[in-house]
Amino acid sequence: MKNDSTFLRACRKEATEYTPVWFMRQAGRYLSEYRAIRKKTSFLTMCKTPDLAAEITLQPIKRMKVDAAIIFADILLPLEPMGIKIEFSQGEGPKILNPVRNEQDVENLRIIEPEEDVPFVLEAIRKVVKELDGKIPLIGFAGGPFTLASYCIEGGHSANFIKTKRFMYQKPKAWHLFLDKLAKVVVRYLNAQIASGAQVLQIFDSWIGCLSPYDYNRFVLPYSQKVFQKINKGAPVIHFATGTAALLKLMQTAGGDIIGIDWRINLDTAWEQLGNNVGIQGNLDPVTLFAPLSVIKERVKAILKAAGNRPGHIFNLGHGILPHTPVSNVIAVVNMVHEFSCR
Ligand code: CP3
Repeated sequence: MKNDSTFLRACRKEATEYTPVWFMRQAGRYLSEYRAIRKKTSFLTMCKTPDLAAEITLQPIKRMKVDAAIIFADILLPLEPMGIKIEFSQGEGPKILNPVRNEQDVENLRIIEPEEDVPFVLEAIRKVVKELDGKIPLIGFAGGPFTLASYCIEGGHSANFIKTKRFMYQKPKAWHLFLDKLAKVVVRYLNAQIASGAQVLQIFDSWIGCLSPYDYNRFVLPYSQKVFQKINKGAPVIHFATGTAALLKLMQTAGGDIIGIDWRINLDTAWEQLGNNVGIQGNLDPVTLFAPLSVIKERVKAILKAAGNRPGHIFNLGHGILPHTPVSNVIAVVNMVHEFSCR
């Protein structure tokens, strides 16, 4: 296993010859070869068939020179063996059939054994690592405790997280038990991914930006912090969320070698807040990929300028690639980042 790839060096905040780049959701519906498989197969079956998950993980790698692969899976997968029933239908988000409503529901949830409960993810990781043969690293991932809890409580995606916050305020004891259980599951799941060969990890706590700093500090931070403390050493961890301009210092307190930011804050402003001891991943608006190349070029250059060659910048979007994104523009961004950042 090569330990000196550009991406891993950037994760360790070492100098690199150019800025590494990859994209959240780089394996997904914007790729025709993904849609061809998706037409015949349900999303959960794709995730649960290691040969398919490995093939889909490698699809973007064959198309463009991204500096990392991310295992094709979903943050909701470890919830199923906990006792949460999940459904994905074409074109709609995930649906939870038995949302968590009270303390009893939380008590009924199981702590998973990854090797037995999600063997398909670990098998897919082993296959991909073998295929990649050390050329680029593989990122494993899990959802953050708040984001996972929000899906379980809301029953799906939510605009304003009323059910989640009401649960948090009305049933604090059940909430704390719930986040503690989720943190335990996330730690086990991520450590199993490291043991299977994932070289870097990302925690997607995508929706914490809906919280006030006061509530994040009180209801979420202790559990996220526990996750970061208990992840086995050796694999750098990226802590990603959106809408976090007011939460960055607290996210950093929770943990992570690299903080993932969206596009609603300038990269240099975020780095001023965080200090130079931590890396930053981001921060192109995913919708920029629908713009003319001249506009994309200007935005890529602006982000690289804001990063100012600081070690520890990983270029990415501020959130996942959207369906219908022109593939040629995604490829163009990879090439632009490599060319414009060449030191
Ligand atoms: O980044 C990658 O390429 C790896 C694969 C990946 C997926 N989901 C595949 C996926 C990753 C890292 C995720 C994470 C994930 N899943 C998050 C956190 C990141 C984020 O977007 O904030 C969340 C909140 C989920 C839950 C989830 N899964 C939602 C809300 C949806 C529906 C939204 C949508 O795009 O349709 C999914 C489905 C999903 N996960 C798809 C993919 C490729 C689309 C499924 C399909 O083909 O129909």
